[in-house]
Amino acid sequence: MNKIILERKSIKKYSQIAVEDEKIHLLFKAASLAPSSYNEQPWSFIMARSNDLQNFNNLLSLMSEKNKEWAKDAPLIVLAAAKRNLTIIDKPNKYYFYDVSSAVANLTYQALSMDLYVHQIGGFDVHRAKTALNIPDEYEPVVMLVIGYNAEQVTKTNIHSRIRKPISDFVFEKKFGNPAKINNEVLLISSGDK
Ligand SMILES: Cc1cc2nc3c(=O)[nH]c(=O)nc-3n(C[C@H](O)[C@H](O)[C@H](O)COP(=O)(O)O)c2cc1C
Repeated sequence: MNKIILERKSIKKYSQIAVEDEKIHLLFKAASLAPSSYNEQPWSFIMARSNDLQNFNNLLSLMSEKNKEWAKDAPLIVLAAAKRNLTIIDKPNKYYFYDVSSAVANLTYQALSMDLYVHQIGGFDVHRAKTALNIPDEYEPVVMLVIGYNAEQVTKTNIHSRIRKPISDFVFEKKFGNPAKINNEVLLISSGDK
């Protein structure tokens, strides 16, 4: 299993060390390299560093109280928004949320490769976000991202300790609901994940 996939987790204890601008740039460059339907690139990101207190608190204030409790210590908060219509034909873009999620995934794994962790948040006030951040009507807030270095010692992640559905619950063969026969032993040996 790829080390970066294993190491990704939604942390709640952030170091207050600032995220370097070069790294912030790489995060968004990685996001921009994600695939998107019609290459529309329907994503926009609004970011605030913790040293920019006014804008940081503006983003933080959109979160649910529970999320604020841990997100307040992070050095960087981002809100991702998605453009509803395709620009070239001005028709609804069926994949607008889906594509933003690809961009966020790219950003997340680029972050991990630089020792940065991304915790996604759906628990925020979408309606208030639109006004507080002056988001145009044709865009929809999707998710917030809390980004920074891990304040806790990184321990080796055990793949078996992660709470996940078994593969047979969601990978089918021939028709929906018929679990695919995949030789688990072969997969584990070939990926080196023992
Ligand atoms: C779209 C989305 C919304 C989420 N919203 C929240 C949230 O509001 N608060 C929170 O603490 N975690 C939130 N999470 C994090 C999930 O709870 C977390 O990814 C899941 O429990 C699996 O844990 P892991 O990311 O450490 O593997 C969200 C994740 C996603 C992808």
